Amino acid sequence: MKKLVIAIDGPAGAGKSTVARIVAQCLGYVYIDTGAMYRAVAWQALQSAKPTAETIAEIAAAGNIELTYADGKTSVRIAGKDVSEAIRTPRVSNMVSEVAQIPAVRQHLLALQRRMAESGGVVMDGRDIGSHVLPNADLKIFLTASIDERARRRWLELTAKGYQIDLGQLKTDIACRDKKDCERKTAPLIQAEDAVLIDTTQLSINGAVEAILKLCEQRS
Ligand code: C5P
Repeated sequence: MKKLVIAIDGPAGAGKSTVARIVAQCLGYVYIDTGAMYRAVAWQALQSAKPTAETIAEIAAAGNIELTYADGKTSVRIAGKDVSEAIRTPRVSNMVSEVAQIPAVRQHLLALQRRMAESGGVVMDGRDIGSHVLPNADLKIFLTASIDERARRRWLELTAKGYQIDLGQLKTDIACRDKKDCERKTAPLIQAEDAVLIDTTQLSINGAVEAILKLCEQRS
């Protein structure tokens, strides 16, 4: 069977990574979480007192970001350091969109992402995958959900990790991140013309996975 290239885009908290990971597992494909790459650069930038656009671009240019996947978990390393948990903190979430707006950062990560998808059999999720990184992907999905539902899911996730977060504040933070991602000049968050829209507000993870697997069958 043909090894597909699958692009999954959408706003924060729509369930992209969970769905993408399961789809990749079902198909025996590689899962590539591009948000984790931007988060790793943001985390590294936060290690210096006054990061500038130039120093942040240098972090991305170094290209030493590794994504590995084992036992249902993605591990992320930058400059040899495991930052898998550290990149998920609210501090990183609240500054990652600033980092992702820097054109040179996007340019360096774009090259890495294209290389990672070269041999096919991949599910890549992010914001600009179908529209910019992999415009020839065999299947493009735009996964979304209402802002209330997305905030609720993130709140549950963070609360389970022990963070004390106000749901209203989280909703504001997510809306702010979406706005920055949609309005940036370089490769903004956008639904590619040929992407299939899946709204998960009322749809379970399994429902979204099944819908995507059915589309894969039709395209392979
Ligand atoms: O997917 P996740 O929420 O982890 O992504 C974190 C941030 O990384 C996004 O809010 C966005 O600013 C940036 N990003 C991006 N392009 C991608 C993936 C993520 O700009 N392809």
